[in-house]
Amino acid sequence: MHLILLGTAAGGGFPQWNCWCPACRVARTDPARAHPRTQSSAAVSADGRRWFLLNASPDVREQVARLDGHAPAGMRHVPIEGIVLTDAELDHTLGLTLLREARQLQLYATDAALAVLTEDSRLLPVTQAFATVAVSPLPLGVSVPLRYRDGADSGLTVSAFAVAGDPPRFARRTLAGHTVGLWIGDRATGGSVAFVPGCGELTGPLLTCLTHAGLVCFDGTFWSDDEMIRLGLSDRTARQMDHLPISGPGGSLEQLAGLTGPARVYTHINNSNPILLEDAPERRQVDAAGITVGHDGMHFEL
Ligand code: MLT
Ligand code: MN
Ligand code: ZN
Repeated sequence: MHLILLGTAAGGGFPQWNCWCPACRVARTDPARAHPRTQSSAAVSADGRRWFLLNASPDVREQVARLDGHAPAGMRHVPIEGIVLTDAELDHTLGLTLLREARQLQLYATDAALAVLTEDSRLLPVTQAFATVAVSPLPLGVSVPLRYRDGADSGLTVSAFAVAGDPPRFARRTLAGHTVGLWIGDRATGGSVAFVPGCGELTGPLLTCLTHAGLVCFDGTFWSDDEMIRLGLSDRTARQMDHLPISGPGGSLEQLAGLTGPARVYTHINNSNPILLEDAPERRQVDAAGITVGHDGMHFEL
């Protein structure tokens, strides 16, 4: 299976349009020292031609251009066979409506995320006014085949597992499975990816599960718990925003450092996070732990 990190920034992107925090300043003035990044999304494919998006970001238009490696035979070409969601947050779903020109889409999401998309953000009915969207509910803990739009089996499977967090702040209900990690498997190669861009807590059972993956893409939103408070950008801690910080006791760096089997990559990195600076000491700590700071376009084969 191929996996491309299409967007490695959290909501708002990097630099964020209205932000002049230290990292956003460097991304504008000296992008070689802090590479700009688009909003959180990845794509997986068994054959390198037909892709499944993992989340649909507001930057999907420029992100999909990375998937167009060949000139199509016809007038219209949709390289996206389906979209798999980890949650119904805006940075992971606004791209759905932007793909409406596809006319035929497939959406894989948990019942909880589908409820938010239907009742709260209404992004699903809005998209369905323009395109036929075949919806496949993802039951928790069940491996589901990812099918091409013509119904053929891609050979990839997805299994959703609930992770700690709250539903989006605009959701009226809290249903189990509103935020999940995705386990993507390739039956032909035996390769696997655990894709977890948003996670409030790295519990023992989750860590054990991640051990068996070939690649772990994990929530790299914040470096420290009080990062946004110290910068004067928010009054909430990382944990209050359901993102386990990288540093500190119980942080993801400490826990993922011990996970020596899989390749480990941080993604969904907030623009305030100092690891975005190529020469920051925090970046060196992540590198020293053998963990990669994800950037847009990074490609893995599993
Ligand atoms: C998150 O990752 O916590 C959400 O995307 C928040 C947001 O949309 O601002
Ligand atoms: Mn987000
Ligand atoms: Zn910023």
